[in-house]
Amino acid sequence: MAISTGSKIIKTAVFISGTGSNLKSLIKFSKLKESPISIDLIISNNPKSKGLKYANIFKIKKKVFTFKNMTDEKKTLFELKKNKIDLICLAGFMKILSKTFIKSFKGNILNIHPSFLPKFKGLNTHERAIKKKEKYSGCTVHFVNSKLDSGKIILQKKVKINKNDDPKSLAKKILIQEHKLYPKAILKVFSH
Ligand code: GAR
Repeated sequence: MAISTGSKIIKTAVFISGTGSNLKSLIKFSKLKESPISIDLIISNNPKSKGLKYANIFKIKKKVFTFKNMTDEKKTLFELKKNKIDLICLAGFMKILSKTFIKSFKGNILNIHPSFLPKFKGLNTHERAIKKKEKYSGCTVHFVNSKLDSGKIILQKKVKINKNDDPKSLAKKILIQEHKLYPKAILKVFSH
């Protein structure tokens, strides 16, 4: 699965909607010597997204588009082209991108999902895993295709669900693993 990139650094845009803790971990990773990516653009559909602060802290260009209509996707594509972006990392981005948008990026879109796929695609993964009395949940990094949370899996990590876990405590445990998994998955796909 590894794609050789030679010595070229992969210019990456991270798409967020909320807190941006995965964005922060990806930015930190991008600054390491072994990282094949640089983060050059942050896109959010939510002007109130807390993660947008990392654009100011780390001096990364940011753009906010609500994605309420196709024009916003077009504007986003324009920004991606303008900034010569090669890769999109979805990191807590809560909008579904259109088939056209996904196609135009030719598979160079990754997503992190807070479940052990193919279990619990979609929303409220932690509530659903606990309700179903699952012993484990986890997180998955996968390629994005036109079917929700169904693209080829790159890496996964299992996380044990304890008897006293609630959705909040489980989300917290999984998030810690997400921060490690996303950089590992990027290293797995793109080798220098
Ligand atoms: C993460 O748990 C991520 O896996 C999830 O949202 C959270 C964002 O946290 N993504 C999805 O549910 C996508 N369907 P963050 O903003 O702190 O990175």
